[in-house]
Amino acid sequence: MRWTRAAGRALLVIAVILLGYTGFSAQQGTANREGRGPMTLVTAGDLTDYLGPLLDDWNTGHPAEKVTLVELPDSADETRAQMISELRSGGGRFDVLNIDVAWTSEFAAAGWIAPLERERFPLDDFLPPVVDTATFGGRLYAVPYVTNAGLLYYRADILRREGIGPPRTWEELARQARDIAPKYGLDGYAGQFLPYEGLSVNATEAVHSAGGSFLRDDGARVTVDSAPARAGLGFLADGMREGWISKDALGYKEEESRQAFQDGKVLFLRNWPYVYALANAKDSKVSGKVGAVPLPGPDGLGTSVLGGSNLAVSAQSRHPQSAADLIAYLTSERVQRQVLTKGALPPVRAELYKDPALIRDHPYLPTLRQSVLAAEPRPKSPRYDQVTLAVQAVVQDVMALRASPEQAVVRLSRELESIARKG
Ligand code: GLC
Repeated sequence: MRWTRAAGRALLVIAVILLGYTGFSAQQGTANREGRGPMTLVTAGDLTDYLGPLLDDWNTGHPAEKVTLVELPDSADETRAQMISELRSGGGRFDVLNIDVAWTSEFAAAGWIAPLERERFPLDDFLPPVVDTATFGGRLYAVPYVTNAGLLYYRADILRREGIGPPRTWEELARQARDIAPKYGLDGYAGQFLPYEGLSVNATEAVHSAGGSFLRDDGARVTVDSAPARAGLGFLADGMREGWISKDALGYKEEESRQAFQDGKVLFLRNWPYVYALANAKDSKVSGKVGAVPLPGPDGLGTSVLGGSNLAVSAQSRHPQSAADLIAYLTSERVQRQVLTKGALPPVRAELYKDPALIRDHPYLPTLRQSVLAAEPRPKSPRYDQVTLAVQAVVQDVMALRASPEQAVVRLSRELESIARKG
């Protein structure tokens, strides 16, 4: 199934590229006087398969401005690499880019995305933290589309049988993962620990939850060599050393970790909200047995990284007016509602989190709202690509127990200083 989708995507990408060389260019030559005409929307994998029908609705109403969906791989890093390679080639085949919130600064600083008029995109009704992820150097470069915050998923059936509630602190999480999971033949705790953006997210959450940080002042000040940062990495190292973090999780991205959880192999999972609907779907072995709570920290609530994606117009788009209209459509209240109900993704409009009907069907919404409002963004650095690679390399050594948290923060501090100096 995944293989077929992947093959389908590859074909679609090739088809779009070929169209770029042939049919599109002819149309674009004539239709672009006012920046209007057909376009593409490029995105990371649509894990809940909801985007096709949403775009069909747009296409029915806009026959001269049809949008073609280009789906890249599920992984944040591969998607970024493929988008950048196309943007660098200057081919102009992507019009609307669905970019990770972590990349807005890099894409804006490189001149790959065009600034937007604020009057055209009023953002007062959006959740406040998401708006900030769409700006760079005081200008609006994208419109928030989906937000995200990490949640702790747990096997409610097992905890109920044990007569306990879900963990509220790291100590409780470690104890339950260590003592209860083996009784049921399960791994204790899993997150996304393969070296890619997900590892940076998991490590940043651990460090922030302990009260530390990697960088401050949008990447200008290095702050990682501190006791709280060591404690954050220590939480992950303890889990590996004591065996309550699953060894398999060293190879997990979001989807592999979701699969392990819904195959009934793991007691606790850190993942994004899209997992709630899928883990409770008919084909999941743990359907109806899954609960979700905010991430725990050392003494209580932990701190999630603010995830999600923003929609931007490629600076090379030949139809930027149509592209901007498509962005307005996808971020409208009506479509944002479908982003939640059909896509199981967290919307960016604040009022949807208080809608009783939506809360009835998506019981994790109030928890998610709290987590998003308390989430901390990743550093807004035009060199975030280098920052995240340095974090991943060092944290990988911590997880493999090749470096202690002490050694890790010293090395990372040195590497981040050198990146900050170049900035
Ligand atoms: C999710 C988040 C995104 C993050 C990525 C890491 O897609 O929305 O912000 O960078 O996961 O894998």
